Amino acid sequence: MGEFMPDIIRTDDAQDFADTAARLIWARITSIKNPLITFPTGKTPLDIYSRLLRDHGGDKAVWEKVRYLALDEYVGLPEGDERLFAQWLGRELLDRAGVPASNRMVFNSLAADPAQEAKRMEQWIAANGPIDIAILGLGENGHIGFNEPGSAFDSVTRQIALSPETREANARYWGSLDKVPEQAFTLGLKTLSSARHVFLLVSGAHKAAALEATLHGPLTPDVPATVLRTLPNVTIIADKAALGLK
Ligand code: F6R
Repeated sequence: MGEFMPDIIRTDDAQDFADTAARLIWARITSIKNPLITFPTGKTPLDIYSRLLRDHGGDKAVWEKVRYLALDEYVGLPEGDERLFAQWLGRELLDRAGVPASNRMVFNSLAADPAQEAKRMEQWIAANGPIDIAILGLGENGHIGFNEPGSAFDSVTRQIALSPETREANARYWGSLDKVPEQAFTLGLKTLSSARHVFLLVSGAHKAAALEATLHGPLTPDVPATVLRTLPNVTIIADKAALGLK
């Protein structure tokens, strides 16, 4: 397997991180006509989304052309549930930016046949892709999307059991662990690897070990983000704390 060194953009503090990421992401969005983009949920991108809205929220002509592709989603939540990632991204970015509902390809959390639902997503991407910009966060356990440790580099979109650490990490948003579903959908590592460009966003000292393993550890499904080193088109935007620097 070929190995590449991702482009690493080192930023200072949380503010510089958010400013820099928003600038680079916007530059890429505006360089593509109808960009197909995955946006992550979670804490890492929150300030980035605020800045995109603050600085470019009025640029409706651009947002109207953005095509949003769900990166991952909980399984089994009813339509409209505030925990749904599709809802979360709507609140934090897409509704406010004006990305049309008809431009959003999301998982049906309540699909009767999850395997079929995952297949539907793969087929949709095959017909409408490639993904132009895969924007990803990094889990403390090295996951990207919800490709938990053990995910094969050639995995495709599927249902996956969330690890206890991931459920714990996400419980802070919803108050208690029992509010976090046990199963999720995720685009696979192979699916994400087919993107034209990947941004990995990493902020905070609690991510330092995972980022170190991503950059310098063995290429292994135990640290799913190491798959990014097999790709030639990855930009990692990280702050000093995540890079283990003072
Ligand atoms: C969320 C997702 C996850 C998060 C990761 C980091 O849609 O795909 O991989 O990006 O768990 O989450 P935060 O930013 O909350 O630390």
